[in-house]
Amino acid sequence: MTQSRIGQWSSRWLFILAATGSAVGLGNIWKFPYITGENGGGMFVLMYLGLILVIGIPVLMAEIMLGRRGGQSPVKSLEVVAQESGQPKTWGWLGFAGILTAFFLLSIYSVIAGWSASYVFRAFSGAFAGLDAQQIVMMYDSFIANPKQLMLWHTVFMGVTALIVSRGLQNGVETAIQILVPGLFIILLILVGYSITTPGFKEGVVFLFKPDFSMITASSFLLALGQAFFTLSIATASMLIYGAYLAKNASIFKAGCSIAVLDTLSALLAGLAIFPIVYTYGLLPDEGVGLVFKTLPLAFGEMPYGRMFGGLFFLLLVFAALGSSISMVEPIVAWVTQRWNIVRVKASWLVAGLIWLVGVGSVLSFNVWQDYRLFGRWNYYELLDDLVFMLLLPLGGLLIAIFAGWFMKRQFSFAELEMPPALYSLWRFSIRFLAPIAVIVLVIVTFM
Ligand code: TRP
Repeated sequence: MTQSRIGQWSSRWLFILAATGSAVGLGNIWKFPYITGENGGGMFVLMYLGLILVIGIPVLMAEIMLGRRGGQSPVKSLEVVAQESGQPKTWGWLGFAGILTAFFLLSIYSVIAGWSASYVFRAFSGAFAGLDAQQIVMMYDSFIANPKQLMLWHTVFMGVTALIVSRGLQNGVETAIQILVPGLFIILLILVGYSITTPGFKEGVVFLFKPDFSMITASSFLLALGQAFFTLSIATASMLIYGAYLAKNASIFKAGCSIAVLDTLSALLAGLAIFPIVYTYGLLPDEGVGLVFKTLPLAFGEMPYGRMFGGLFFLLLVFAALGSSISMVEPIVAWVTQRWNIVRVKASWLVAGLIWLVGVGSVLSFNVWQDYRLFGRWNYYELLDDLVFMLLLPLGGLLIAIFAGWFMKRQFSFAELEMPPALYSLWRFSIRFLAPIAVIVLVIVTFM
């Protein structure tokens, strides 16, 4: 451990802000509300909260801890930590797996983020006004059927991400995050403020918070587990690299809890902003993937000041997605600069360019390549989506937990986490038993 660390946040607050920016993303504003809508509301929320607490926070802490202990780019960090505990350097592959996951995830994430960016302009310009449900759906269908449009927004989104990351940790990432994260919470509060005044508010709150115990099923439980991992940005090397930049004297326990609380708060606020509107305009909460792009625009088209509220809503999505995309590029760029000795600016554009290229396939999957099936089953987008969500993310989470719990020496994790012994034991119990068992069950059931 002679090598110096590769970077440091200007303050621990900026670490929390950046990690929150990573955690709060499309998963919170787009996915959480729609899977909650499809899985009965309150009961799902309750399971999700429990899983965040019992498994999400411990694994998040583990990943930050591994990053800080190593203090290098993701692959190297894991090598350093493994060797310190007398384990083979091959654990570095786990860092590389995280990098690959981030790479593929961002290639599809950017496409959806691009849709959101396009909808910002539609909303502000009043494009939803006076349209009926069918016309809104048509607008969406014709948009995603247009490869040029999708390509444009995918390109813009990746370009902005590259620009930010290329400017460095302090000038780029920190500066952007200080605008994006407070900005997104302010927008959320404005939207919730509006929601409170709508007649559907009570119904929305009841839907979101009233647990209906008949809704506990194995599949909703597993969905909640996957969401808990995804929303905390676990297993994509993001927390490894953000942890590597964290000062040695900062408490990982406090940071982990703050990140999880802010992340959960944003998801709940998004739900509070969305469901009352859905009920006020007599729409359905369980429209799935289309909730944000097909259901909400209808309401924005009707409500007073709908242009403004609609525009703000999609801007919120873009802000959230940007904070996340930065944190997916950063670990890869850190690895490329350290491993290949390339300067950051070049590395950023190179990495973003490659991700963009892989993303082009996803853009085309919604139109030109829609019916082009790989292995007779998936189209390109679906293949990457399943690869990331069914394989890479759960496996990455599992291996991080197993490495931190079973292979890293207890004395090192104890020293790094600096928690009261009782809390530390709880953390260790979760990391060694609860998290691995939960993920293994998740994987088995997924493939059954
Ligand atoms: N947490 C992000 C969200 O909720 C998604 C995500 C998963 C992510 N892994 C990540 C974002 C890694 C950035 C980096 O949308």
